[in-house]
Amino acid sequence: MESGFVPVIEVMEVPPGRSKVVRVAGKAIALFNVEGVIYAIENRCPHEGGPVGDGEFTGTTITCPSHQWQFDVRTGACAHDPSVIAKTYDVRVADGMVLVDASRLLQAARRHRTLLRRVAAGDPPEAIARECGLSHQEVERTAEAARIGERLLYFGELYLRKGRVGGGDLQAVPYRAMKPIDGEVLAALDALARLL
Ligand code: FES
Repeated sequence: MESGFVPVIEVMEVPPGRSKVVRVAGKAIALFNVEGVIYAIENRCPHEGGPVGDGEFTGTTITCPSHQWQFDVRTGACAHDPSVIAKTYDVRVADGMVLVDASRLLQAARRHRTLLRRVAAGDPPEAIARECGLSHQEVERTAEAARIGERLLYFGELYLRKGRVGGGDLQAVPYRAMKPIDGEVLAALDALARLL
């Protein structure tokens, strides 16, 4: 398999004229089948973050359900504003599977994981922001996640490996002290997974 490409679904799950939202390395990606060729864009509208892949898909155009901006699924180009482009991802098909180029996604995940480790180790957020070229808010969000605790990092890594964290994982030893394991904890894990 070409490096960076990860299998996501079987080709038959997204027939011509149809779309499907999948998760790749923790990110939602919308797939579109245009006459047998599959395209992928981030399922986060560049306008205000709406779930663009849930909109109406006709020909080569997806209409975001939030405010009806339209995008060409082949290029990510926006019909309303040429300066706006939805993030696209390369796609391959092999052995009946759709493969998406996740190298950029994995890079971002690794960068955030390194950042999270440094925040957990007590490095000052200002220094990290300067060195990594991140905004102060990005570092603060990570610092907030780090305050939740080292054990969440454990689950963040689990999330990266498995793509999800289930109730069974929460019973694992490093998390035993936190009781009860409830919706709030799951929400915190989701927030951490988004940062990773
Ligand atoms: S969020 Fe997609 S059009 Fe506004």
